[in-house]
Amino acid sequence: MEVIIVNTALELASEAAKFIKNEINTKPNLVLGLATGDTPLMTYDKLVEFYQAGLVDFSKVRTFNLDEYVGLHKSDLNSYYYYMHHNFFDKINIQEENIHLLDGFSEDFNQLAKNYDKLIYENKGIDLQLLGIGINGHIGFNEPDVKLEINTHVTGLTEETLNQNSKFFPNIEQMPKQAITMGLGTIMRAKKILLIATGARKAEIMARFLEDSSISTSTPASTLLLHQNLTIMMDLEAARLYLKEKKMTINENNNQEYKNIIRRFSTI
Ligand code: F6R
Repeated sequence: MEVIIVNTALELASEAAKFIKNEINTKPNLVLGLATGDTPLMTYDKLVEFYQAGLVDFSKVRTFNLDEYVGLHKSDLNSYYYYMHHNFFDKINIQEENIHLLDGFSEDFNQLAKNYDKLIYENKGIDLQLLGIGINGHIGFNEPDVKLEINTHVTGLTEETLNQNSKFFPNIEQMPKQAITMGLGTIMRAKKILLIATGARKAEIMARFLEDSSISTSTPASTLLLHQNLTIMMDLEAARLYLKEKKMTINENNNQEYKNIIRRFSTI
């Protein structure tokens, strides 16, 4: 596991976008797993900037999104379909047929879930999966539970997640209580994973799951610790408790190419 700590959320976006750009430049038809939520927004902005500057080409990139709310139509401003098109896809040269999103308005979610995993498999798996993390340790919408699902599935949302995400809806009652999400197996089968976390509200979960060095279904993100190629990027606010527990101080980094990075280390 590689841990990268930067000062600010803006710098994190820049590093995360650089990471993704480099993967695409190495493999132009990269299969890219994507996340929604607040955290990746600035990373998408940065990638759009790189595209506009001619530094990256999305024409062959294939994408698979992590999740979608059940019951929201594509046209709904709170659907992840809308989020992805509005914030990213409409601003780059990705081909519509290479975009894969889960349909929150499906008539048969079981079939949809099966087809999604099959399609990922037929595309030879996800090369790079971008992830955010919920304050309760969820990834995708794999919520803390007594058991965790492996494949794409429909799930109920926990109280904590409903509260976390209700800010996007007029009120909590109008918020979908279920979502369809890639399972932890779908996520863990990705060849590389990049988890990004910013802001003080993520400090506790980041310290908890990185320090525990054990796997627990009550912290779904802990399964990531088993992954062979995991990079975690945090801004200083998200990393603060983790650094404190590890009794680490911040190093200044003079490498100009990576001047945003104030601390970088590998750990097992
Ligand atoms: C979204 C997703 C979620 C978010 C998580 C963090 O596709 O899969 O796991 O990454 O809820 O959300 P933000 O970034 O809004 O804090």
